[in-house]
Amino acid sequence: MAILPVQRHLFDIPDNIAYFNCAYYSPQLNESRKRLVAGVEEKCHPWERTSSDFFNDAETIRTLSAQIFGGDADGYAIIPSASYGVGTAAQAIESQLRSGDKILYAADEFPSGVLPWMRIAQNTGATLISVPAPDDGNWTEAILASIKPGVKVFTASTCHWTNGAIVDLVAIGKACRDVGCALVVDATQSLGAMPFPLDEVQPDFLVAAGYKWLLCPYRFGLMYVSDQWRDARPLEEAWIARENARDFTALASYSDKYLPGARRFDVGETCAPTILPGAIAALEQIKEWGIVNIAESLAKINAELAAALESRGFIVPEQSQRSPHMFGAQMPADLPTDLVTQLRARNVFVSQRSNSIRIAPHLHCTPKDADHMQAALTEITQTIF
Ligand SMILES: Cc1ncc(COP(=O)(O)O)c(C=O)c1O
Repeated sequence: MAILPVQRHLFDIPDNIAYFNCAYYSPQLNESRKRLVAGVEEKCHPWERTSSDFFNDAETIRTLSAQIFGGDADGYAIIPSASYGVGTAAQAIESQLRSGDKILYAADEFPSGVLPWMRIAQNTGATLISVPAPDDGNWTEAILASIKPGVKVFTASTCHWTNGAIVDLVAIGKACRDVGCALVVDATQSLGAMPFPLDEVQPDFLVAAGYKWLLCPYRFGLMYVSDQWRDARPLEEAWIARENARDFTALASYSDKYLPGARRFDVGETCAPTILPGAIAALEQIKEWGIVNIAESLAKINAELAAALESRGFIVPEQSQRSPHMFGAQMPADLPTDLVTQLRARNVFVSQRSNSIRIAPHLHCTPKDADHMQAALTEITQTIF
């Protein structure tokens, strides 16, 4: 484990910008931009392209993903969004659900993890139930108490998207297996920034949109599919996921055999040269930094920011109940309700979720950014009084 030095030189962020909003939309690495521009250029010169170039990027991403996040490379599919991944999981699991079965989710979950299940509940007569937010902030205990026989699906997040509240998915995964409940995990708000023990959690499906903590281009995401679901029906019937896809002369032979592993779940037009090369650059960088080191470094930045906010009257959850990379700070009553807009006017970028501001830095953040936020808060407070 190591605290990584500030990595601002790898991003294109001017000195006067304090950006703590990666849970919304992370900045892209310069190296990703370089490779994406090359992808755009390549479309202008199609004669330079060979069919092996066309397929290789997807395979590189599967290999990198297995090296960074665990599991086997064959188990990774390339998806365009978290909703696509959860939709795939929901369709696969639908045939196992009966009227009266329960599908569980944590209250106020992001819609991509819930809406596909609303449809499945309508189709099957299953009941969709939310676990209320616990008063003591302990989501793990609240969820464990709700996983009982009759619960057939838990659609979970690795941490709560509004404030980074942490859940112990290892314990929850075990509880799910004990009652025969499928576990579908949306790791959008942590994959890339916090370790995810895939082998211990053993999710049926793991899904993550890439444009936040994976530092990837928008419209890129990853899905890991456990062995038992790799024969399930994909959302699309893409030719590119068939065994004969590489033989452009035989495509009209209409193969009904999918490529092995989770490749059948890849989005159609998988190998977008304006998306995948940028994702590869980001995954290579994440691999080089190391997830444990990223988490440790972001936890340090956040500990300093949390202390600064607490000294100004914000209420921050205990460290044991929040993720290393992001947290929600409940606003004191005397701050203006348009605090986020006022901070933005001073080049400080955060999000607001209910009455908390959400702090989500990455390795581009410097101690100067923290001072910048402090100075902006002082100025805003002075304007009020
Ligand atoms: C937990 C979570 N899942 C998914 C998403 C994005 O979903 P999608 O890729 O379906 O747009 C977000 C965006 O904020 C999120 O916070």
